Amino acid sequence: MKTSAILLVGGMGTRLMPLTSKTPKPMLQVAGVPFTEHQIRKASQAGISEIVLATSYKAELFEPYFGDGAKFGIKIKYAVEESALGTGGGIRNAAALLDDCDQVVIFNGDVLSGHDLAAQIQFHINNKAEVTMYLTKVADARAYGCVELLADNQVKSFLEKMENPVSNLINAGCYIFNRKVIDQIPANQVVSVERVTFPSFLNSGLKVYGYLDNSYWLDIGNPQALVKASADLITGVITSVATPKHSGDHLIAAGAQVSSSAIINLGTFIEPKVVVESNCQISGSIIGSGAKIGANCKIVNSIIAPDTQIEAGMVVISNYLGF
Ligand code: GDD
Ligand code: MG
Repeated sequence: MKTSAILLVGGMGTRLMPLTSKTPKPMLQVAGVPFTEHQIRKASQAGISEIVLATSYKAELFEPYFGDGAKFGIKIKYAVEESALGTGGGIRNAAALLDDCDQVVIFNGDVLSGHDLAAQIQFHINNKAEVTMYLTKVADARAYGCVELLADNQVKSFLEKMENPVSNLINAGCYIFNRKVIDQIPANQVVSVERVTFPSFLNSGLKVYGYLDNSYWLDIGNPQALVKASADLITGVITSVATPKHSGDHLIAAGAQVSSSAIINLGTFIEPKVVVESNCQISGSIIGSGAKIGANCKIVNSIIAPDTQIEAGMVVISNYLGF
């Protein structure tokens, strides 16, 4: 059984504006590397040898970094949508570049998860499923795709972003599709996999299974979540082979100048060329390259844009400055 992958990275990242005005969401730095690198490494670790990046918004920024994938132990190809085709249209478009395979893992490009991908693939094969959807439980399902399961783990209903969710089980953004099933999505059209494809698969009686895994899960689609993902990767709440080696609960890039009296903790990531002056406290934050943090500042759960100057003595809490 050969498994390939598609990574959906074409969205606008609207909820992360202005962080995403120059950089697409999946290329934002999370724990020292572009977020996409964590997902590519995860795919590679699960034994997947080929991944197609389905790009649209700022598509040109991916290839110079990831190239043909040799550095990441996986073959990488790029499917560019001239205008965004939606999640379903993006999957259909990207599948045209895949080598022969039996099934395809499809990742949302903004989910950090500790789920066992190899086990999800095995579950898909064991059930002879046509589609297997990774599910997780949340307190409030309104912002997600809400899923109802039958006793045998087949999906009964899928409702994207409903006002009154019928369960607390959600689509966690990682599917396995049998290769042939992708051809049922119409080509060269805007299609939402969540609003159109899944409901139509269920109507037509396709075997769609839910794979429930309650390990770490986070959609990095808003600034609070982005900075939390970075801090959690650095403190080890969740691990990724893509996180650069570091000691302690911070990651400070080579070439940053941090005063020895500064306290840098709770998963803070300091990018190259940053200057941090004396007696600062920086906790759970991302400091963009070239930023200058004056003496006696306190920065907590915040993101400071590259090249921003923060005046001495400022207190910045849960804020996104300088973008
Ligand atoms: N190629 C391509 N083309 N990718 C796209 C497009 C497109 O037109 N539109 C969105 N994407 C990508 C985004 O870049 C992102 O990685 C992924 O598809 C999901 O889009 P989001 O905009 O982040 O969707 P969401 O977070 O509101 O909801 C989705 O994720 C939830 C879990 O985090 C849905 O799949 C929900 O059902 C799910 O619960
Ligand atoms: Mg999202």
